[in-house]
Amino acid sequence: MKIYGVMVIGCGYIGLQHLEDIYYRENIRLIAVADTDERAARFAARKFNAESFGTDYRRFLSDERIDIVIIATYTSSHLEILKDCLEHGKHVLCEKPIAETREKGMAFVDLVKQSGSRVLVAHILRHNQTYRRVRELIQSGEIGELKVARMVQNHHSMDWERYRRLLEDSTPVLDCGVHYIDVLQWFTSSRVCEVSGIGARICEDSPNFNYTLMTFRLENGCVGYYEAGWGKQVAARNIKEFIGTKGYISLTMKDLRFENREEGDLITVYNSETGEYRHINMNVPYKDMYGQLCTLIDMIEQGSPGNPTIDEVYSAFNVAVTAQEAILQNAVLQVSL
Ligand SMILES: NC(=O)c1ccc[n+]([C@@H]2O[C@H](COP(=O)([O-])OP(=O)(O)OC[C@H]3O[C@@H](n4cnc5c(N)ncnc54)[C@H](O)[C@@H]3O)[C@@H](O)[C@H]2O)c1
Repeated sequence: MKIYGVMVIGCGYIGLQHLEDIYYRENIRLIAVADTDERAARFAARKFNAESFGTDYRRFLSDERIDIVIIATYTSSHLEILKDCLEHGKHVLCEKPIAETREKGMAFVDLVKQSGSRVLVAHILRHNQTYRRVRELIQSGEIGELKVARMVQNHHSMDWERYRRLLEDSTPVLDCGVHYIDVLQWFTSSRVCEVSGIGARICEDSPNFNYTLMTFRLENGCVGYYEAGWGKQVAARNIKEFIGTKGYISLTMKDLRFENREEGDLITVYNSETGEYRHINMNVPYKDMYGQLCTLIDMIEQGSPGNPTIDEVYSAFNVAVTAQEAILQNAVLQVSL
């Protein structure tokens, strides 16, 4: 078994979630953690037993023991850090979204395609067994033809400073939207072709709209909406509902289950022809960070194309950027392919 040397850059919310799930694995050796905030880097190094830590990731890039770099910094820094990592021959797992502008996103994809290294973008829902099961159900025709998707993901953000910094780079429809646009295209094997939407600045000190709602139309005729708002005034809300010609599938996350509180997400499948409801309990981790890292390792060892592939990543990103433009321009926009 090969043991992979790993460095994590960015030891904030999502960096720590990566670390938590990978630091003790048999095939992982945590060589270094880096964060421009020295306290964050020291904390992560102590907690997860990293061999070294520092404020400048570049100091570690010539360390040949590091095979894989996990980029978990602000969106606007992903491209530059990716470039540095690839120049040093590292494989990369990079947090989404790939960038805050379409131009930088295209440059990101070009770099990945030109590189001999493997790069996986962290679309964590691709590695979530609940979402995989919903995809199987939709693709096997359980609810007939998918006609409407309703997706809501509102965060009651008590750690407002973290969200405020994320909002400097993009609105929620881009930051979180890439996950759900990708899921939708993955579920349906179709593409979003038209977007529109609305937005509002709920918090006065927000650098951007912190409430966004996009509506979309897919090439296969399915329509729907995705709502994402972050703020202290916003109640946490999570709706995932897929309506087809023969019924619907809804997904209730573990924390929102009010009855039969089992340790898992709940998938409900309703068949409108028989009137029957089916419940499927999914006792699986929400963010399978190690499973995601293993996908990158498969890409390295077996040359597999990635899940999602870089083209699928760009497609979801392009839709999200277009949706953000539609919201800011108050327009209905076609998505360029
Ligand atoms: N996949 C997911 O479910 C998910 C969830 C949350 C955030 N994210 C994404 O992860 C990224 C980070 O978000 P977060 O919520 O963890 O933010 P955060 O503010 O909690 O953490 C970011 C950390 O990166 C550090 N940092 C910034 N620039 C750096 C640099 N050049 N070198 C080293 N360290 C640097 C900051 O000091 C901070 O500690 C964003 O792109 C966000 O969209 C993904």
